[in-house]
Amino acid sequence: MDGNGRWAASRGLPRIAGHRAGADAVRRTIEAAPGLGISILTLYAFSADNWRRPGREVGALLRLLGRYLAQERERCIANGVRVQAIGRRDRLPDSLVALLEQTERATAGGRKLHLRLAIDYSSRQAIAEAAAEAVKALSDGRQATADGLSRQICRQVGPDVDLVIRTSGEQRLSDFLLWECAYAEMLFTPRKWPDFSTADLSDAVSEFQTRERRFGGLPVQRSA
Ligand code: IPE
Ligand code: MG
Repeated sequence: MDGNGRWAASRGLPRIAGHRAGADAVRRTIEAAPGLGISILTLYAFSADNWRRPGREVGALLRLLGRYLAQERERCIANGVRVQAIGRRDRLPDSLVALLEQTERATAGGRKLHLRLAIDYSSRQAIAEAAAEAVKALSDGRQATADGLSRQICRQVGPDVDLVIRTSGEQRLSDFLLWECAYAEMLFTPRKWPDFSTADLSDAVSEFQTRERRFGGLPVQRSA
């Protein structure tokens, strides 16, 4: 979800107006995802490096996140959306952590879409934590082989990613799901996040379906 600030600036609006418009794009995307065959959606809402932004913007972003959660909880329950936050919680305002926990509990039964919100998220940190856990798990007498470690980390970091969509013309991962993206298909669009539409999402899925995924193997031979 990138380009909120530039979307606002190009309209002579304050950056936070771009973030508010971005929240509408989030709502649209969540509603459209299950119908397009998406069962797990991870949204990069606030990276661990976003703390470098001015305090005013950080505060506004975190308040917006809280308001969004409070407003959308019922809709998520009604639509079978299970909400889960990934990332650190200890640096977030207590009120936001409480909202996240309430939302996670209230939506735990959702089966249509698993929505993961990356908040104060750093993939490097998640991998480091998973590795530390894995070492602990494997140190009870067994040898911590590279393979064993890798399997343990896989179990802890999260599911493999099929498709990454980054908006606003930037072409980098910015510490997002680095481990899980080992074989992800990448799609970069110049569209700024507030303008990202259901049609854009549908086009992205169609583009994904044209990609030949080999996972290091050879093309699948089609029988004549
Ligand atoms: C993405 O939009 C929103 C967050 C990172 C929370 P930006 O705020 O990065 O917008 P640009 O990149 O400055 O246009
Ligand atoms: Mg940006």
